[in-house]
Amino acid sequence: MNLKGRDFLKLLDFTPEEINYLLDLASELKEKKKQGIPVDTLKGKNVALIFEKTSTRTRCAFEVAAHDLGMGTTYLDPSGSQIGKKESIADTARVLAGMYEGIEYRGFEQEIVEELARYSKVPVWNGLTNEFHPTQMLADLLTIREHFGHLKGIRLTYMGDARYNMGNSLMVACAKMGMHFTACTTAKYFPAKELASQCEAIAKETGGSIRFTEDVKLGTKDVDVIYTDVWVSMGEPEQVWEERIRELSPYQVNKSVMENAGENAVFMHCLPAFHDLKTKIGAQMGERFGITEMEVTDEVFESLNSLVFEEAENRMHTIKAVMAATL
Ligand code: CP
Ligand code: NVA
Repeated sequence: MNLKGRDFLKLLDFTPEEINYLLDLASELKEKKKQGIPVDTLKGKNVALIFEKTSTRTRCAFEVAAHDLGMGTTYLDPSGSQIGKKESIADTARVLAGMYEGIEYRGFEQEIVEELARYSKVPVWNGLTNEFHPTQMLADLLTIREHFGHLKGIRLTYMGDARYNMGNSLMVACAKMGMHFTACTTAKYFPAKELASQCEAIAKETGGSIRFTEDVKLGTKDVDVIYTDVWVSMGEPEQVWEERIRELSPYQVNKSVMENAGENAVFMHCLPAFHDLKTKIGAQMGERFGITEMEVTDEVFESLNSLVFEEAENRMHTIKAVMAATL
């Protein structure tokens, strides 16, 4: 398997074999890190990390992974560069590719990261766009594989806003790996038809399946993984909160959802999560709408079946694998 020079923009661009290769590499790098065996094979190289939206996990994962591999990093924060304001994406790509061996980009439309990659002669990695979050997918697949021992045949149900980056990406990831994906939410939040048809065609080849339902009991019955994400994503207007809370509350992941899924089901969330009122936005929403939790109850989030922190750690090992494989 040779992925040298490849961009990592969305999982649709990769075969199941290539995805498995990245997961295997991540496992190997994780094991070495745990044993204290250094893998600094990319000494002397540098990577640029562009964040047009904020981040904790993705930024830290890229910085630690790059450092472990022996590389230097430059972090460009949401306001601290010329990108988009005084300099086009095409020009930025050519400037950065002259100084760095790789470029990470987190921002808005998928088209922006695709354009960056078209103009860059070095690999570009997607650290989240409105449409896709592919590095998160590798972490999620690794976490599921570590827990269940395999991916094929795993039933994953996504609840909440399934038409945004996380719903879209999980649908693609499940289709690619022969898993059974369900979007369990109100019809307005189902993934776009075109992407769904594309995933159905892929699932046909891999033995997976794609299902959409508004029925919580049906959509979560006997599944292996219950997954959710925030109801309002970065970059969305403040005004949508009220509507989202009203429309998506029936799809909150709570004890009865987990019980319906069964005792072996696990809970996953890309994080950050609103599972209590201990955040600024959480407290504001709590006061405005008289609620104490949003997409997931604190009870489920803190339960033994919750894999959220394993998943967060795996962001680093999988991002390291992407950089090691493509550089
Ligand atoms: N899951 C995730 O991408 O987290 P950050 O926004 O903190 O990077
Ligand atoms: N849907 C979320 C994912 C965060 C990792 C967002 O885009 O804000």
